Amino acid sequence: MIGLLPVNAVHVDLLLADSAEALAKREQYLQLLSPDEHERMARLVFERDRQRFLLTRALVRTTLSRYAGVAPADWQFQANVHGRPEILDRPAGVPDLRFNLSHTDGLIACAVTIGREVGVDVEHVGRRLTQDVAGRFFAPAEVARLHSLPDDEQSMVFFDYWTLKEAYIKARGFGLALPLGDFAFHLNPGEAPTIAFEPSLQDDPATWQFLQDWPTPTHRLGLAIRRTGADLPVRMRQVVP
Ligand SMILES: CC(C)(COP(=O)(O)OP(=O)(O)OC[C@H]1O[C@@H](n2cnc3c(N)ncnc32)[C@H](O)[C@@H]1OP(=O)(O)O)[C@@H](O)C(=O)NCCC(=O)NCCS
Repeated sequence: MIGLLPVNAVHVDLLLADSAEALAKREQYLQLLSPDEHERMARLVFERDRQRFLLTRALVRTTLSRYAGVAPADWQFQANVHGRPEILDRPAGVPDLRFNLSHTDGLIACAVTIGREVGVDVEHVGRRLTQDVAGRFFAPAEVARLHSLPDDEQSMVFFDYWTLKEAYIKARGFGLALPLGDFAFHLNPGEAPTIAFEPSLQDDPATWQFLQDWPTPTHRLGLAIRRTGADLPVRMRQVVP
């Protein structure tokens, strides 16, 4: 079925990685993969990783097909120099769909929009960190803010920063080639997060929209969209491809 994604919107489709309904479609999903994706999947050592890889491919392919007359198996992708998959050889008449993927223990997210930079990150907040990731990678203002909080609040706010920072570097398409300490988020309860850049990044905070959510009680989500003018509406929903 072909639907129309409004030009001025962002859709985020979420798939629970242990969904029995999705896992029952394994054979169907395997038909959607390209030869290259089959090879990548076969190289994964653990069944859990292969399963997540398969569900991620099924999610992005079926999601994109909701917005264009292209069958899920027919999409072709190419990674940019920093690893971000993008649509290759967009057929005539297909809108300039942009997407970004994130997966973590139990959840897969696919954000889609048209003609805009978009980045999404999901993290399981039960994840244990063995190193002082914030101290090593976050901006000084973020580290100071974290350390000013009571111990029991620090871990949640850490994931707030982490998911937003990942969403931003993913929207830019650079991944970790962008120094995480060169931009800082400002979080104010009840308000959308804002960002400040070091001059080295040559970016304009006013062009960015950020959003946070709890798609499940244990998963934090950060979303970054570059837009001109007013904030875009964001639709988030749980799906089974
Ligand atoms: C690859 C990276 C862009 C995101 O990694 P991540 O947060 O571990 O993983 P996510 O599941 O959120 O994202 C992975 C997906 O992002 C996409 N991706 C890969 N490179 C990307 C890039 N340069 N830009 C945008 N998206 C990218 C891919 O679709 C990938 O999934 P796939 O390989 O199944 O297609 C990169 O930022 C990274 O390696 N981060 C490590 C995490 C970390 O150390 N964070 C420090 C604290 S902020």
